[in-house]
Amino acid sequence: MKNFYITTPIYYANGAPHLGHAYTTIFCDILSRSKRLLGHEVFFSVGTDEHGKKIEKNAIKNGLTPQFFVDNMSEQFKKMWKMLDIDYDMFIRTTNQRHINNVKQFFSKMLSNNDIYLGEYEGWYCIDCESFWSDSQVGEKKICPDCLRTVKKIKEESYFFKCSRYVEKLLNFYNQNMDFCLPKVQLNEMINNFITPGLKDLSVSRTNDNWGIRVEENTKHTVYVWFDALFNYFSAVNFDNEVYKKFWLNNDTEIIHVVGKDIARFHCIYWPMFLMACDMRLPNRVLAHGLIKIKNEKMSKSKHNSIDPVLLTQYFGSDVIRYFLISEIPFGNNYDYSFERFIERINILPHQLGNLLNRVISMLLQYFDGAIPTFSSLNLEDAKMQDKMFSAIKDYKKNIDNLNITEATSTVFLFVADVNKYIDDIAPWKLYKNNKFKELESVMSHLAHFLYVIAMLLSPILVNKHKIILNQLGVLDKFRKLEFIDKFGILNNCVVVKGELLFKTIDDKDIDNLKTLLNIDD
Ligand code: MSP
Repeated sequence: MKNFYITTPIYYANGAPHLGHAYTTIFCDILSRSKRLLGHEVFFSVGTDEHGKKIEKNAIKNGLTPQFFVDNMSEQFKKMWKMLDIDYDMFIRTTNQRHINNVKQFFSKMLSNNDIYLGEYEGWYCIDCESFWSDSQVGEKKICPDCLRTVKKIKEESYFFKCSRYVEKLLNFYNQNMDFCLPKVQLNEMINNFITPGLKDLSVSRTNDNWGIRVEENTKHTVYVWFDALFNYFSAVNFDNEVYKKFWLNNDTEIIHVVGKDIARFHCIYWPMFLMACDMRLPNRVLAHGLIKIKNEKMSKSKHNSIDPVLLTQYFGSDVIRYFLISEIPFGNNYDYSFERFIERINILPHQLGNLLNRVISMLLQYFDGAIPTFSSLNLEDAKMQDKMFSAIKDYKKNIDNLNITEATSTVFLFVADVNKYIDDIAPWKLYKNNKFKELESVMSHLAHFLYVIAMLLSPILVNKHKIILNQLGVLDKFRKLEFIDKFGILNNCVVVKGELLFKTIDDKDIDNLKTLLNIDD
């Protein structure tokens, strides 16, 4: 069976995490947990990108050393991931000594192979984005196309990576791996916008940036942050020989980088070229998601329009935030966030899932003193529902195989809706009233099993709440594995208990109070 190495980008350690960072990380966490649920082995890495002029500037502004500043920032990210129940295997930091050694080694190797050469760079530089731009990109106003700040003309000695050596090879690689970058339009954009017009050699060092990894061969240079950052994916698995063998050297391991589409270019063009230059394996896939916007503007600290995921998570709990982000945002599309839409989406949880749990547990308590009846299948409707369950499981697995976790989630919620409808149609209370106990047993044993299946399939998203469902159903620990979900009868005689409310509905009257509490402007 295939292994997976799944990565988030490493976030710049120059500001606290926002909802956009939370989205990528939650996506990767759910993907990792889903793959594990299906029996795969997964290594999941996250981390922080800690070098660069911008970070040094920020640290100085706050009267701190850059190292102290990034230590503190990376802790904030770790805390956020803990709050959101992110179950990562590695938190990689670019100030980690082992990573620094790796970067130096790769830089030297490329230098000695003439993949990197010394030249002179002249261009428009955006200090905030740490990016150089061409004349046409900055336009007449001389502003950075990304952050819209004024750029500066800079001329400096720089090392360059010889892209021209690898363009042909890269295009061949794309041809043989048409799904390398998903959604597919991203790869076409990459080719049309960057490669076909002629890819310039990439400047990979700076002389005006002290807070970075020194080039051993010429210490007035530091390594360009993107060169440094991309190699985090190597450093994250290279610290342990077993992990390295299993998740990097092994060709049965699929390496998946999940990134925002604004940085897909670095992952689809430069990263494979760097790896080719070092004779190393290439990643299998870059998944490029859209950006979360607010009133159609990119969310960012500098625009003061970012949403604080800490406050949201403190109030609603991690499962709700995880569910919201994964079910609401179609992968690859930009998404315009609004608090109203957020509430509408999360209310699906109490209305659909909470309600289903409540109905099933209450009926089992009322009709059978809480003991789940021995599984039987007497009614035509029950048999039809079994088919729906099997097809939901099949679709779910197929979607996870295809990395479509948002679709996998909606498959489960469609089944939740089917089960609710099944209750309405068959009306177990009528069977009870009419003393049709055999039929009632059949219906209730199915309902208990369907809830169990739903809880298991949602376990990668609702990492806490799914346990409440399983506990209320009295599911034994040994059956909390995917291999049992199609085995009817395993819940025979389990005793259910009524427990805490699964999710609270947010009413219109709560919304205003919440806005104040969560610091949300209209
Ligand atoms: N440090 C680099 C990544 C290096 S990976 C080798 C970086 N950091 S970042 O903090 O600016 O952005 C990290 C990720 O967050 C990117 O994938 C970016 O797309 C994502 N997001 C930043 N703002 C976002 C939104 N508003 N919405 C969704 N994701 C966004 O780039």
